[in-house]
Amino acid sequence: MKSDSGHSIQPRAAIPVSVVVPTFREAANIPGLAERIHAALAESGREWELLFIDDDSDDGSETVVENVARRLPVRMITRRDTPRDLSLAVLEGIRLSRFDRIVVMDADLSHPPERILDLLAALDTGCDMAVGSRYMPSGSVDRTWGLWRFLNSRLATLLARPLVTCSDPMSGFFAIDRRWLPDLAALRPIGYKIALEFMVRGQPRVTEVPIAFHDRNQGDSKLNWKQQFNYLRHLRRLYQYKFGHPVRLLFFALVGTSGLLIDIAGYFSLQQVGVEHRLARGLSFWPAVTWNWWLNRKMTFSDRQPRPRGRQWIEFVVGSLIGFAVNWGSYMVLTTFSDFFTHNRMLAFICGIGLGGIVNFLIVNRYVYRADTMPVEDLNSSVMERS
Ligand code: GDD
Ligand code: MN
Repeated sequence: MKSDSGHSIQPRAAIPVSVVVPTFREAANIPGLAERIHAALAESGREWELLFIDDDSDDGSETVVENVARRLPVRMITRRDTPRDLSLAVLEGIRLSRFDRIVVMDADLSHPPERILDLLAALDTGCDMAVGSRYMPSGSVDRTWGLWRFLNSRLATLLARPLVTCSDPMSGFFAIDRRWLPDLAALRPIGYKIALEFMVRGQPRVTEVPIAFHDRNQGDSKLNWKQQFNYLRHLRRLYQYKFGHPVRLLFFALVGTSGLLIDIAGYFSLQQVGVEHRLARGLSFWPAVTWNWWLNRKMTFSDRQPRPRGRQWIEFVVGSLIGFAVNWGSYMVLTTFSDFFTHNRMLAFICGIGLGGIVNFLIVNRYVYRADTMPVEDLNSSVMERS
């Protein structure tokens, strides 16, 4: 099956295909999907299988699949004792599927099974990944989509633009060849966007195929605010992966700015309640630096193994003080020894912030959030390593 050596007796047009479908409470959609895939693929004479990866729906899905399996090559794998996760379900399905050509799609008939052959044809032309796209010419979304949903989807797409060239990187309908697949254990998907994860980390040559996306008739969408938040987390991770240190530095700067606002707010509110201004200056530093330490831990360096909080906080404070010393020191040096800066003190002030910030970043990157052990996400994903 895996041989690409030309010894295969399969004619090209009939390369078998595994259709991988993640499901959660889709019992009502399963028979219809299987029938339509069967109808779509029957004429091509291809061998196929339909593999559902279910997150323990407990809605009779397994029985439904057993019934359909009497006539069609359908099976269901149930993931138990693992948190519900669409992307990990898809990865598991890809691992457990039999054939090299793999199509991933939703169960709710949003993705027209009739387009499977178009996706496979695109793979035959030599690309690594074929994506069913709603946003290319001839593609479409459901006419019942309200403005809000449409804008939401377009915004999500826009945010991923710098990462990929595909016009619909959010798509959940795509075909890939197993022989191209990146190392599955190295993937770090969160939430729904497994195709995006493939595109950023695997850098496939992508071909897009227009599809008309239909809203589900049966059951409920599992897309909620939590998924949207997860999408932002996923994006951050992919941006860090793709653009590396500059993106980390950018997050560090954003965190620093938010801390500055807290510092200023504290400085003024303490005076409001009667605290003397010099004491207020000294006190407002602490919530600000604590906020920065926490947010950098959660965001900028969230991929690093977390170290004990108290100790790390102290190190962070020390790092911040060193950064401030550099900030102040460079201001002093510039305004003392340079005529230009003596007349443009604001520029000296800004240079100080820049230099201090960079030194601070180098310290926290190297020591405070050091990467001396396995990244956290490797530990989290050990569930994927199960055989
Ligand atoms: N195993 C498993 N575990 N499957 C899940 C889970 C889960 O936690 N959550 C959802 N699914 C399955 C659903 O049963 C369905 O087959 C498919 O994943 C998509 O879920 P929907 O709930 O229908 O998602 P959607 O319609 O909001 O989102 C789809 O369209 C988006 C574009 O608008 C997905 O294809 C997204 O990937 C896509 O971005
Ligand atoms: Mn759906």
